[in-house]
Amino acid sequence: MIIAIDGPAASGKSTIAKLISKKLEFEYLDTGALYRGVTYFIYINDLSLNNEDMVVDLIKKTKFSFNNNHLFINGNNVETEIRKNNISKLVSAVASTQYIRTILTEIERKIGHQAKNIIMDGRDIGTVVFPDAEVKIFLTASTRVRASRRYNELLKKNEIHTIEEIERDIIKRDEIDSKRATAPLVKSYDAIEVNTDNLNIEGVVEVILSIINKKIV
Ligand code: DC
Repeated sequence: MIIAIDGPAASGKSTIAKLISKKLEFEYLDTGALYRGVTYFIYINDLSLNNEDMVVDLIKKTKFSFNNNHLFINGNNVETEIRKNNISKLVSAVASTQYIRTILTEIERKIGHQAKNIIMDGRDIGTVVFPDAEVKIFLTASTRVRASRRYNELLKKNEIHTIEEIERDIIKRDEIDSKRATAPLVKSYDAIEVNTDNLNIEGVVEVILSIINKKIV
């Protein structure tokens, strides 16, 4: 069974998907981490996206793996680096690049087909990667609520930014993600939208579990 959770930046998809995967004993794939990992690797290797052959070659030679929900690149834990604000600022441009999406979509489908039960979060899981997913959730929240959650998250990691700066970045990212030509961020016609403005984490998990239970019965 495949459960797809899509939605805009900082809507809490990963936090929620992780908790639900634990409760249901499903595998979990954070597809945003793959886009972040590729962005980070292009960045540290000082490559340009215009140089398609070199970038494709590099990605194909690189081993991306997960351990305890942390992304490893060629055996190195890069979880901290890929969550930094500089990578968040760069990732939308990388995710708008057709040849990168083709490679990552292929990887995501392979992981999905190999798993018995999996929950995947991203932007295009219910629309492009697994349009036949049994359960599709579209998680949203206002930009201010998302910015303030991300602010607190970064603060815990000693990354200090103003809420206004984070909100501006989120708006910019949503705009690039929604307007790109390939696999834009859009709610699938058959996804159920869950707005989390007035819900805490436990509340969101409860709502989504009840949606999943209704689908299973
Ligand atoms: O969910 P996140 O913020 O970690 O995602 C990082 C970026 O990757 C985001 O700007 C959009 C992109 N992304 C995507 O285009 N498609 C996905 N399936 C997952 C993420």
